[in-house]
Amino acid sequence: MIPTRKLSNGVEMPYLGFGTWKLKGEECSQMVKYALDTGYTAIDTAQVYLNEEAVGEGIRRSGRKREEFFVTSKVRNRFQGYDNTLYAVEASLKRFGLEQLDLFLVHWPGEDMYVPTWKALVRMYEEGLLRAVGASNFYPEHLETCAQETGVMPLVDQIEMHPYFQPYEIVEYCRSHDIFPVAWSPLMAGGESRKDAKTAKAGETGVQLKSPMEDPVILKIAENHEKTPAQVILHWLVQNEFGVIPKSSNEGRIRQNMEIFDFRLTDEEMKQMQKLTEKQIRVGDDPRTYRFPLLDEMIAAGKEPERDRFGNYM
Ligand SMILES: NC(=O)c1ccc[n+]([C@@H]2O[C@H](COP(=O)([O-])OP(=O)(O)OC[C@H]3O[C@@H](n4cnc5c(N)ncnc54)[C@H](OP(=O)(O)O)[C@@H]3O)[C@@H](O)[C@H]2O)c1
Repeated sequence: MIPTRKLSNGVEMPYLGFGTWKLKGEECSQMVKYALDTGYTAIDTAQVYLNEEAVGEGIRRSGRKREEFFVTSKVRNRFQGYDNTLYAVEASLKRFGLEQLDLFLVHWPGEDMYVPTWKALVRMYEEGLLRAVGASNFYPEHLETCAQETGVMPLVDQIEMHPYFQPYEIVEYCRSHDIFPVAWSPLMAGGESRKDAKTAKAGETGVQLKSPMEDPVILKIAENHEKTPAQVILHWLVQNEFGVIPKSSNEGRIRQNMEIFDFRLTDEEMKQMQKLTEKQIRVGDDPRTYRFPLLDEMIAAGKEPERDRFGNYM
């Protein structure tokens, strides 16, 4: 059984979800079905992963009843703004083939459009199309602004978090405001830097970094518990009260990443894990500086995005 965390509105969210970034088409549907068959109860995706339809197909093939799975998606940066977010979330529901989603997040804060984007999500939450709403890559100042502007604090903040990057400034704010922090790239994306080509410094995109799964401290803890380094990292995050959403396209590793609830790290091991943050290696962009073009700007620049088979912008 995968434990759940009660969000501040009472909705139960599983601590473990299946990450789907980079999974597309038939492979994505197969892996989502496999994860659900194996016992996962949550799937994490985003409009920008271009796989919402494939995720929906995998869910259907699994035969799970609606109340047996939890799906998260995120507003694509280009759709930020009140009206565009309303359309984009409706489009996601169509792609999934679902009438309600469990959680929708504002994917990145950007500059100032995250406020109208948040207002649109709050409206859809109040209308019952979304069971919960939250943020991703938000710092305390962004979370605070959302609450001030709407009276609704994001229920979740999904942030980059792994042994080599533990942003306690955000975590402490989440803990004191009953926001569930969820760790993205919990395995540091296997060591692959995923910064945007536009914002990375020379040589930073697609760089292969040393993975924490090869770190001697983690290897030793893994040996102590007869677990793999990946299992130690995922368990450490859950023991720290974070959600985790590891991605894998390998059936053995999908199963392995679920077997993380049957051991506990000692206080000393927890301290050793926390110390690894001194490396400060970020695989993604810095949310305080990351900027992106909006749909209207793209259209004005003659870069109109493609549409999905329902006629909605992707
Ligand atoms: N909100 C955001 O801005 C944001 C950003 C990035 C990611 N995310 C979400 O977070 C999810 C996870 O992040 P991620 O996909 O970047 O990376 P991740 O889950 O940290 O790592 C995935 C990588 O680790 C490998 N791996 C998985 N399990 C393993 C194991 N047990 N042993 C060894 N290697 C293992 C995978 O390879 P194989 O596939 O070959 O197993 C893949 O290369 C994403 O899929 C996405 O849903 C959100």
